[in-house]
Amino acid sequence: MSAQIRAIVAEETDGKIKGSLKTIDVADLPDNDVLVDVAYSTVNYKDGLAMSGAGRICRKTPMVGGIDLAGVVAESRDPAWQAGDRVLVNGYGLSEDQWGGYAQKQRVNAGFLVRVPDAFGLDEAMAIGTAGYTAMLCVNAIRDHGVKPDQGPVLVSGAGGGVGSVAIMLLARLGYQVAAITGRAALSDYLKSLGATEVLDRGEFAREPKPLEKERWAAGVDNVGSTTLATMLAQMKYEGLVAACGLAGGVPLPTTVMPFILRGVTLRGIDSVQAAMPRRLRAWRDLAELIDRDKLKLATTVEPMSRVPSLAQDILAGKVQGRVVIDVNA
Ligand SMILES: NC(=O)c1ccc[n+]([C@@H]2O[C@H](COP(=O)([O-])OP(=O)(O)OC[C@H]3O[C@@H](n4cnc5c(N)ncnc54)[C@H](OP(=O)(O)O)[C@@H]3O)[C@@H](O)[C@H]2O)c1
Repeated sequence: MSAQIRAIVAEETDGKIKGSLKTIDVADLPDNDVLVDVAYSTVNYKDGLAMSGAGRICRKTPMVGGIDLAGVVAESRDPAWQAGDRVLVNGYGLSEDQWGGYAQKQRVNAGFLVRVPDAFGLDEAMAIGTAGYTAMLCVNAIRDHGVKPDQGPVLVSGAGGGVGSVAIMLLARLGYQVAAITGRAALSDYLKSLGATEVLDRGEFAREPKPLEKERWAAGVDNVGSTTLATMLAQMKYEGLVAACGLAGGVPLPTTVMPFILRGVTLRGIDSVQAAMPRRLRAWRDLAELIDRDKLKLATTVEPMSRVPSLAQDILAGKVQGRVVIDVNA
């Protein structure tokens, strides 16, 4: 008889998708080359959309949720991976068309795996997770654009969330001044402890901007979209760059061409899900070098897998602070 494991499985009832804790057979896992004993997963905004059914993320059901996983290889049919290897996966369609990390074991496509850097425990790799790796992609876009710390502060929206919290840590570690936009004034001390030099109210940005406003920021990391991103663009300094990765405030982008054609501003889209492996490996190498593990701990809570359905609601309601790690064996 096949072993049984616990998993959060999204199923469709009356046209609505919802994730819940189930017991499944190891024999029913997909026929991929690497069997991973999963230790931790995470809750990202996208997991919230997927597991609550608020967004059409799961493209087939039943779907084991969790866009991230970290664990140890148990068996591999691919020579690149051996039993005992510490591995992680971010994105690559997990929780969309590939079964994901909310399971005690998962069979994963060998090409999706990244070796967990020696600097991190498996729990720390997931404290970073997709949110932290995406923050690193955003920060690398700013660095690659040639923006230097002496050119002015970098603005981070959705600062109290996962991507925002890690982006602040990374930017501060690299010597940038960081202005954090939050809707939660109570998070001010937390954001400053991560490295923010200034905390700004969300309401200053979530409004219709003028085509061009006073030049204030050398660069930006945007998790929010909509009018917030439009205001950030209108306030960028000459040849500044905004790395846009999120939609927590909405999908439309009510901007004009003016920041682009009169100030040479760059709007750089960031996608973590299908990012090519060399870009991922660079991001994880950089994270190993730059992450302050004490600050990461400050930004992280660890929860059991049974809490995923309610955490999915919380993250969409903007109630989650920093990063949530899921201990799939708790
Ligand atoms: N492109 C990619 O590959 C990629 C990868 C990872 C994440 N993302 C996206 O990036 C965003 C952040 O992800 P996350 O996992 O860090 O989520 P998160 O932890 O929920 O952070 C989002 C933050 O945005 C702010 N926010 C929430 N609702 C808002 C609203 N209605 N208006 C304005 N601000 C609002 C909140 O920060 P404050 O309370 O501090 O204001 C919240 O903590 C999400 O949209 C996610 O889908 C994209």
